[in-house]
Amino acid sequence: MTNATLVCRDLWKLYGPDPKGFMAQHASRPSEDAIRAAGYVAAVADASIEIERGEIFVIMGLSGSGKSTLVRCMSRLIEPTSGGVLFDGLDLLSVSPADLIELRRHKMGMVFQHFALLPHLSVLDNVAFPLEIRGVGRRERETPAREMIELVGLAGRENYMPHQLSGGQQQRVGIARSLITNPDIWFLDEPFSALDPLIRREMQNEFMRLQDALHKTIAFITHDFDEAVRVGDRIAIMRDGRIVQVGTPEELIIAPADSYVADFTREAPRSKILSARAIMRDAAAGETVTGSIPATAKVCEFAARVDGSEHPVAVADEAGRQIGVVDRRAVMRVLVGAEELA
Ligand SMILES: Nc1ncnc2c1ncn2[C@@H]1O[C@H](COP(=O)(O)OP(=O)(O)OP(=O)(O)O)[C@@H](O)[C@H]1O
Ligand SMILES: [Mg+2]
Repeated sequence: MTNATLVCRDLWKLYGPDPKGFMAQHASRPSEDAIRAAGYVAAVADASIEIERGEIFVIMGLSGSGKSTLVRCMSRLIEPTSGGVLFDGLDLLSVSPADLIELRRHKMGMVFQHFALLPHLSVLDNVAFPLEIRGVGRRERETPAREMIELVGLAGRENYMPHQLSGGQQQRVGIARSLITNPDIWFLDEPFSALDPLIRREMQNEFMRLQDALHKTIAFITHDFDEAVRVGDRIAIMRDGRIVQVGTPEELIIAPADSYVADFTREAPRSKILSARAIMRDAAAGETVTGSIPATAKVCEFAARVDGSEHPVAVADEAGRQIGVVDRRAVMRVLVGAEELA
């Protein structure tokens, strides 16, 4: 097994004088008014998510919405106030402290928000550090460390010190270090947010290349919807500690739960995300239809074809059956926005 599933059920993290007592008084379901009146902060409020094996699950939300707290509760770096966390079916909250440390060392990889490398250690020693903590000898740990350094594109820089590396290179060292123990689940808390846009994009591509090879189960925090769309299979949107909506990028764009979610998706590259299925309509009786495009094709892939066609184009499901049509107007609505065509 090279990866795990992770489930959070009704998870809460309250800060205040007596969180557990307060939760007990409210049957583990306090209202927002009760929380505020009693002077508590709900960093995570009643969050339930299921991360599937090999999935990149993105967590988004404004600053202070509870993303880091939620992910830290998933590894019990922060003790949740109530609720459950299942790591591959194992109830993480009942695991002993000693077992928890073992689990973290062997099965979890983490890249922290604003993480730092150890400044007095070389690239090689930084990457090998998690193995050193485990008591692995120098020779045995250097071989996998060199492999990881190569994997993240830093071969030849093994003996550099952190201050001799660019921000992006340091980030790669952090990524290599988090992967050296071959974790079953990988937590990344805004791993690229400190980087300028070009390097950031490069790192995202590199990350996707790594994931194509490794198929890890990943919880990935970002506050950038573009990044979420590029890397994520599904996206959870958080506000004030709560999960407002979980869905694929396309689902969030087509049916945002509220204006908060819609705000995140407003600037998204819709033509790359929306499929023929999402924008098709029923053919009118006797309507002339030409050609056919697969229901899963993205608008950017067929826009020119529909634009150049005199008649609407058929949309076909996997079995080749016509399930609708796409016309020029539907494509234009995606390309220039519904408002301009209204
Ligand atoms: N130790 C603490 N004591 C009290 N409140 C805390 C504590 N840690 C976090 N909080 C509060 O919990 C909320 C969620 O914080 P968290 O760090 O999870 O947010 P975030 O979504 O990761 O934000 P950012 O995007 O800025 O990293 C914030 O309102 C924060 O002030
Ligand atoms: Mg954070």
